[in-house]
Amino acid sequence: MERIYYFDHAATSWPKPPEVTEAMSACMQEYAANPGRGSHRMAVKSGRVIMETRMRLAKLFGIANPNDISFQASTTAALNTAIKGFVKSGDHVICTGVEHNSVRRPLEYVKRTRGVELTYAKTDAYGNVDLEDLKAQLKSNTRLVVCNHGSNLLGTIAPIRDIAAICRRASSACKLLVDAAQTAGTVPIHVGEMGIDMLAFPGHKGLLGPQGTGGLYIAPDLEVEPLLHGGTGSQSEAVDQPTIRPDRYESGTLNTPGIAGLGAGVKFILAETVEAIERKEREMIAKLHEGLQGIAGVQVLGPPLGKPRTGLISFLMNGIDASELAFILDQSFRIAVRAGFHCTPLAHQTAGTLETGAVRASIGYYTTSADIDVFIQAIQQIADQYQTQG
Ligand code: ALA
Repeated sequence: MERIYYFDHAATSWPKPPEVTEAMSACMQEYAANPGRGSHRMAVKSGRVIMETRMRLAKLFGIANPNDISFQASTTAALNTAIKGFVKSGDHVICTGVEHNSVRRPLEYVKRTRGVELTYAKTDAYGNVDLEDLKAQLKSNTRLVVCNHGSNLLGTIAPIRDIAAICRRASSACKLLVDAAQTAGTVPIHVGEMGIDMLAFPGHKGLLGPQGTGGLYIAPDLEVEPLLHGGTGSQSEAVDQPTIRPDRYESGTLNTPGIAGLGAGVKFILAETVEAIERKEREMIAKLHEGLQGIAGVQVLGPPLGKPRTGLISFLMNGIDASELAFILDQSFRIAVRAGFHCTPLAHQTAGTLETGAVRASIGYYTTSADIDVFIQAIQQIADQYQTQG
């Protein structure tokens, strides 16, 4: 098979470590029974593998009780559970100017349907939240602040500790929900040390698991209504949803093969360490950033070189539409990127690219320095052609 240069890790990581595929295959072939529903050995094994994954995730994120993590089908499902289960009529919620639609749409939904008040903290074109503005927006009924840890368009990393401290100082009732879609597994996260009350994360990006996996951490003192009600395999005689965690948030059969794969991914990350992965990604993305900004006609979005960013870079090229550029990269160079609006028109509005969209290149665990060279050369070649024509 001809080589593909995969630069779309921010959408989903690929390839996965072989251990992930092996764990999923072993699950399917040997024991994929329904976890928590039967007492036979296959069901017990399914339940054990799920518990092991939960424990590894707890270790990774500094979570004392693994049962405070529920498995979710995606970060979107986790964010919907957190937002719709927590905010009530009359509450005020603040989010930033770089939120993904998976935050913005559920927030706008509760605003429209429940009379929740929603405001957006000022955010600059580089994706930095104005902390003074955030402070100024806090009110006695502010119950939730929602922000992403890493912007999926700009790569900006939010100062979560500072935001958490601002929430705490405002009131003990004001909680912080963090969308870690772009940072789980690639930027260190410790919920206790960072002051995070709820953490929504994907399994299929930086954690190197398969699609269809993700999770939600809810601090033990927080009451969040479940989004789904139904069978949990526990307290079946009760009419109401169990209050025990994680069952409260895990109605329906879990994705055992996916969670087995995620468990292998998290094991891999724990062995490599997030710190080492972050160091390598920072080096690699700086190289890509430097290379791209040296090409005439290319405009890089997000934090300037030298400032922290996640492993992604969005950019524009004079004289060529973002989607066309992505098409040429795919067809002529076998380079996979994402182009368009990245499900975040809000961040595009903040960055001033709502009219144009952008091309996004994102790196991952298996990206090499040689891959970055190939990418820069391809962009240089396209730029030469288009700048000459232009
Ligand atoms: N949210 C993912 C992305 O930004 C899918 O591509």
